[in-house]
Amino acid sequence: MESASKSDKARLEINGKTYELPLIYGTENEIGIDISTLRSQTGAVTVDIGYKNTGSTTSSITYLDGEKGILRHRGYSIEDLAENATFLEVAYLLINGKLPNAQEYSDWDNQIRNHTLVNEDMQNIFKAWPTGSHPMGQLTALISSLSSFYPDSLDPYRDVDDQHRTIRRLIAKMPTIVAMLMKKAKGHPLIYPSNNLDYVSNFLNMTFKNVTEDYEIDPVFVEAMNKLLILHADHEQNCSASTVRIVGSSHSNLYACISAGIAALWGPLHGGANQKVIEMLEAIKEDGGDVTKYILKAKDKDDPFRLMGFGHRVYKNYDPRARIIKKSCDDILNKLGVQDPILNIAKELEETALADDYFVERKLFPNVDFYSGIIYRAMGFPVEMFTVLFALGRLPGWIAQWQEMRDENQPIGRPRQIYVGEVNREFVPMQNR
Ligand code: CMC
Repeated sequence: MESASKSDKARLEINGKTYELPLIYGTENEIGIDISTLRSQTGAVTVDIGYKNTGSTTSSITYLDGEKGILRHRGYSIEDLAENATFLEVAYLLINGKLPNAQEYSDWDNQIRNHTLVNEDMQNIFKAWPTGSHPMGQLTALISSLSSFYPDSLDPYRDVDDQHRTIRRLIAKMPTIVAMLMKKAKGHPLIYPSNNLDYVSNFLNMTFKNVTEDYEIDPVFVEAMNKLLILHADHEQNCSASTVRIVGSSHSNLYACISAGIAALWGPLHGGANQKVIEMLEAIKEDGGDVTKYILKAKDKDDPFRLMGFGHRVYKNYDPRARIIKKSCDDILNKLGVQDPILNIAKELEETALADDYFVERKLFPNVDFYSGIIYRAMGFPVEMFTVLFALGRLPGWIAQWQEMRDENQPIGRPRQIYVGEVNREFVPMQNR
């Protein structure tokens, strides 16, 4: 049988007139309609609130098929990467488009180790914050403040080598800053980076070592943290990555772009969900553990309650990251000998939801945030730190997305709108209103 040939044009009819628009095909046969000339041809714009159906860019970083539950970075499946790679290897892959060979990896690793210290003056910023400030707010500010410490690196189009240094600085300093947030929240002295340690071990050491005691880095922690960071490393054009790209499109410096990405991630519908999941599971436990009651609440359209860690804009199948995390969660808690009653509540909640027509019809499955918090908690991270850990993992993805946008010299992001307000009216002086 002859297969239909691929068309290179879409036809659109507006008020009886037909217009042709070019089609763009992805390497996985995704189809896009290039509407960039639509307005000049027809006077019309497309409307897609929440960008539910808008491709904002072509990209060769991450491929995601939400119907089939597939996630690949630069062609490598997330399952393969999570099982076999180190986080720094995945960061290299995302940013450079290929896996490093042994020499490239060693160079990359050394370059990162050379940048782990942060300027001591950065600690002064903490003095301005009241105790109990949320670490995500602090993280946006601290990352943005790096622009003050490196004022020569602010022009992303001036010097490519300089921008590569900025990228290495960000990747190297982020764990130091995240560990600093933990220590400052407790009022404990900082633990400085140890450049003889690998990326993840160094982070754990700075976070959990106490100046007064010896600390042995647990290989179970290293393995878990490495996997969690990889699972969060990129997720194509999500809310925070799109934010990073759009801020970068105005030629803002990379520190500002990443800071904006962190702010976007903070929201409970995005990365902030991992904190909300644990709070929800705790609340269910405190309330007697009645899972059905909360399923009913989530289904009730008059109740604002949503099942946190459930549902996803693009996954209409089990989130492959959640599948890996769920398995790791059992393994890690077993290895650590931790029994967390909220894990049983989470499993019961998942089982009940997946058997319920409301969730089945809407194709709502657990997402990456549903089980990750249980692992973080078993490792000893406070709940406010969970989204910060998401940001630590997502950093190379944001950088890769930003770099792709910059290398292609993409135009400033500036959507159109359909105005639905008042038409022209005359100003009436206040005494006559
Ligand atoms: N609990 C109950 N109902 C839900 C949920 C949920 N968690 N998620 C979606 N729905 C319902 C929603 O009410 C709607 O129902 P109806 O068609 O009757 O109006 C339908 O499912 C479609 O939902 P939507 O809000 O149109 O979907 P969206 O693509 O705009 O939102 C989402 C996706 C992730 C924001 C949403 O599923 C949600 O709020 N989930 C909870 C928060 C969460 O876990 N976020 C983390 C996402 S994964 C981490 C990351 O950001 O990368």
